[in-house]
Amino acid sequence: MIQAKNIHKYFGDLHVLKGVDLNIKKGEIVSIVGASGAGKTTLLQILGTLDKPSSKEKNDFIINGTSISSLNDKALAKFRNEHLGFIFQFHQLLPEFTAIENVCIPAYIKKTKRNEAEKRAKELLDFLGLKDRYHHKPNELSGGEQQRVAVARALINNPELIFADEPSGNLDSESAENLHQLFFKLRDEFGQTFVIVTHNQELADMADRKLTMVDGKIIY
Ligand SMILES: Nc1ncnc2c1ncn2[C@@H]1O[C@H](COP(=O)(O)OP(=O)(O)OP(=O)(O)O)[C@@H](O)[C@H]1O
Ligand SMILES: [Mg+2]
Repeated sequence: MIQAKNIHKYFGDLHVLKGVDLNIKKGEIVSIVGASGAGKTTLLQILGTLDKPSSKEKNDFIINGTSISSLNDKALAKFRNEHLGFIFQFHQLLPEFTAIENVCIPAYIKKTKRNEAEKRAKELLDFLGLKDRYHHKPNELSGGEQQRVAVARALINNPELIFADEPSGNLDSESAENLHQLFFKLRDEFGQTFVIVTHNQELADMADRKLTMVDGKIIY
C-alpha cells in the first residue's frame, strides 16, 4: 500500500527526516512511536501527501501503485480526497456545521450527490454509535463523540488508507480505548490500512507492527 524509500525533510537548516524507509501492506495497522521532536508528524504529513519530501536526496514514494511525485497539485488533491483519510488530535470539525454536514464535506468535494453522501454519512454515524447525533453541532457533542464524527468524516469516501496523528491524545481513557477498538473493527470490516502516530503505549502495542522513530529515522 505504501512504499517509501529514503525520505528526507529539512526545515531551513534543520534536517528533520534523515532517510526514512517504510513499507506498509494493505490492511495493516502500523503504529509510529518516538520522542517528541523525533519527526513523527513530519513523516505522517509527507506520507499523507500534505507535505513534500526534500528533493535534494533521491527518494521513492508510492501509494497504491501511484508515484506521488508524478502528480501535479490538482491531481494530488484529487488523489488525497479519493484515497486518503485523516484523523488529527484536535478533530478540526467545522463549528457551524452539524455532525452529518461535517461528515459529508469530503464527499461533496468529490462531487458525490447529496442524498448519496447523506445516506453514507448516516450509515457511518450509525456504525459509530451516533444515530441520535446527526444534527448536533460539534459544541453540542462530547469529546469522544466529536472524535467519532471526525472518524466518520475520514471514512466517507472509503479511503484505502487512513492516517491518524495522536487520534486519542485528547480523550479520556475510556473514549480512547473505544476509539482504538474502532480502528480494528474498521480494518476487519472494511479492510482499511492505518498508520497511527501515538504516545499511547497501549494503542501502539495493539498495532500489527510498531515502528519507532529516533532522531529522524525509523529504527529497525
Ligand atoms: N514547519 C516547521 N518549521 C520548522 N521546524 C519544524 C516544522 N515542523 C516541525 N519542525 C521541527 O521538526 C522537528 C520534528 O517535528 P515533528 O512535529 O515531526 O515531531 P513529532 O515527532 O511529531 O513530535 P511530537 O511527539 O511532539 O508531536 C521538531 O524539532 C520541530 O521543531
Ligand atoms: Mg507530532
